[in-house]
Amino acid sequence: MPVNNRPTILICDDDRPQREGLQRALQDRYDVVLADEASKAYAILESQPVDVLLTDLKMPGDDGMKLLRRASSLGSPPVSIMMTAYGSIDNAVEAMKAGAYHYVTKPVNLDELEIVIARALKSRQIEAENVNLHEQLDQKFGLENIIGQSPAMLSMFDTVRQVAASRATVLVTGETGTGKELVAHAIHNLSPRKAGPFVAVHAAALPTALLESELFGHERGAFTGAVERRAGRFELADGGTIFLDEVGELEPAMQVKLLRVLEERRFERLGGTKTIEVDVRVVTATNRNLKNLVTEGKFRDDLFYRLSVVTVNLPPLRERREDIPLLINAFVRQCSEENEKPVREMTQEAVNMLMAYDWPGNVRELRNTIEQMVVLARGDRLTLRDVPLPIRAGADLTKIAVVRPGVTMTVEEAERQLIVQALKDTGGNRTHAADKIGMSRRTLHRKLKQYHLEDL
Ligand SMILES: Nc1ncnc2c1ncn2[C@@H]1O[C@H](COP(=O)(O)OP(=O)(O)OP(=O)(O)O)[C@@H](O)[C@H]1O
Ligand SMILES: [Mg+2]
Repeated sequence: MPVNNRPTILICDDDRPQREGLQRALQDRYDVVLADEASKAYAILESQPVDVLLTDLKMPGDDGMKLLRRASSLGSPPVSIMMTAYGSIDNAVEAMKAGAYHYVTKPVNLDELEIVIARALKSRQIEAENVNLHEQLDQKFGLENIIGQSPAMLSMFDTVRQVAASRATVLVTGETGTGKELVAHAIHNLSPRKAGPFVAVHAAALPTALLESELFGHERGAFTGAVERRAGRFELADGGTIFLDEVGELEPAMQVKLLRVLEERRFERLGGTKTIEVDVRVVTATNRNLKNLVTEGKFRDDLFYRLSVVTVNLPPLRERREDIPLLINAFVRQCSEENEKPVREMTQEAVNMLMAYDWPGNVRELRNTIEQMVVLARGDRLTLRDVPLPIRAGADLTKIAVVRPGVTMTVEEAERQLIVQALKDTGGNRTHAADKIGMSRRTLHRKLKQYHLEDL
């Protein structure tokens, strides 16, 4: 609450002495607005910001409970305190359910009331700060549970926010472990369908015949073993989102069936004649290059165009190394909590090493590695020694020297590694190496001496 902006309290009570008595008691510290019935309180709530609503329960016209409900459905609702001479547990519970922060009985003890109001305002402030913090965190470090702040990820977040609102079909592409399923979840959670179901189907896991019944359901006796009628995933996803993972693996027969559902939004259960219509948003994912599959004749081009109305591509982790420290932080925290280990941090050298590795399994592999490091850790700090050997052996430190010179290692070290790499790349030709780095041959000569690399 800003200092020079006094909180506003709306008092609604049909009893005039009570109303005005409270006003006198509170007006030193608060801006007090009065209403003698609920309908007047509604008008006030709609026309000006109110921080605290203090209302009587029994009043002619709408009672305090109704007022509470209406107040708490406002865009930025006041905290509400209910007063009543008819104090009973039932009323109190009901008032809480209707959104009341507190409940005081008449005759109102003014000292108590002031404490309750102060506490209510505090809780409102904390709540507002939390929402704010959450939004800030989301903006700064990610979206939903997706962590990242590299330019590629930030622009991906923008796309996801934009498409989430519509029913557009989305194709999520990216190597294994880049977070495709997370993105599918985020699209659902940020959409107006978030209260509806999110149904995931892994297309590669089942042969076509089974997949068909899984997706569209079947009638009793549709095939051997179909003893009961069963609803398919498309039906279960009605009003929500269906996520078809590994869509590149679909066999041609299945591709045709999926195309029809996308075009018409309806289908029949296996062995059934009744046409079922559904309102489903379709999100698909693949770690293969669908366009290439189309060119090779393995994926229908008409289906490809239907699926890729919007495409969200997740770049591999090695192309956004600046996200690695953020991910490490989050994973160290999560993994030490899950495994009840006291690990709190990782040394800069260890972080550098992890940044210098190429992560063919992307974020999943990074998470698994951190988990392994945390589980095996002896202290509360992960060091270079905790980095698994294959990662240390596979890491190429020149890569991060280029990404963040001077930040992830000393400038000297970065420079030294750049020179070594340049000489390697040019087969030891100093003139070409100097050109490559953008320094004069003389400077290179001096640096080679400085770093004791004359023999290279
Ligand atoms: N940006 C990220 N922030 C936080 N966690 C992530 C991120 N990306 C991926 N992960 C985590 O990595 C793991 C793999 O993610 P996910 O299952 O979404 O990958 P995928 O692209 O679907 O992989 P696959 O192609 O193998 O199915 C999960 O544990 C997920 O929570
Ligand atoms: Mg996946």
